[in-house]
Amino acid sequence: MRDVIVAANWKMHTTPADAGDLASTVASRTREAGVTRVICPPYVALAAVRDALAETDPDVAVGAQNVHHELAGAHTGEIAAPMLAGLASWVIVGHSERRRDAAETDELIGRKLARALEAGLRPILCVGEQLAEREAGRATDVVDAQLRGALADHDPAAAASGRLVIAYEPVWAIGTGRNATGADASAMADAIRASLGALGWGETADATPILYGGSVTSANIGEFLAEPSIDGALVGGASLKPDEMAGIVARAGITARARGLAG
Ligand code: 13P
Repeated sequence: MRDVIVAANWKMHTTPADAGDLASTVASRTREAGVTRVICPPYVALAAVRDALAETDPDVAVGAQNVHHELAGAHTGEIAAPMLAGLASWVIVGHSERRRDAAETDELIGRKLARALEAGLRPILCVGEQLAEREAGRATDVVDAQLRGALADHDPAAAASGRLVIAYEPVWAIGTGRNATGADASAMADAIRASLGALGWGETADATPILYGGSVTSANIGEFLAEPSIDGALVGGASLKPDEMAGIVARAGITARARGLAG
């Protein structure tokens, strides 16, 4: 049975001075058997969050929000996967804000994914269409192309052993308060697994957790987790609010128990 995962993407919020307290508060309010929790702060707050969680709840994993596609070299301002050793065990790759702000392409994202897997970081690969693409009926084609572009050169067995997670984040739902419906997210999750199947992933396609992201709150998380094909959420704005995270993870705990993960 696939993991149930709630990942917090803090984006460009918090500082090393306040991130540890926020991580501790969120951790202590989200203890739910069977739910995998991940907090992804900015790079500069990784150490503070790691240290705070070691005290309050070592079960909460720490993730980075990005990683470079090379291992080292003349890349001013960048962070390579081996540098994250001891700081993070997860990493987000291909977030739409990086596709937008840093012009990341699917091919580049595929190289980031490779560096993450080699370094033993558990990747969350983000995919999702723009509003105009959905309105033109092209959402699944766009996501399929993103998956092919990022995953074509990957051995499915390596991605499976690295326990790749895919986050479906429709761009028009991010930070807008306008979430997708559970039915739309579920249909896309099925399409994503079909794309993985077409890439030769076989049974690994079914074993790959798929998260929904885009204006997730404690009020709408139930709609997504009611869908058996959805395995959790990648949460942005609401992840900075402990009350919201408590509600989201509590709902994820119900799904974890229903899946027999609560042990
Ligand atoms: P919001 O939850 O703020 O819409 O952000 C979603 C997201 O981009 C998570 O990676």
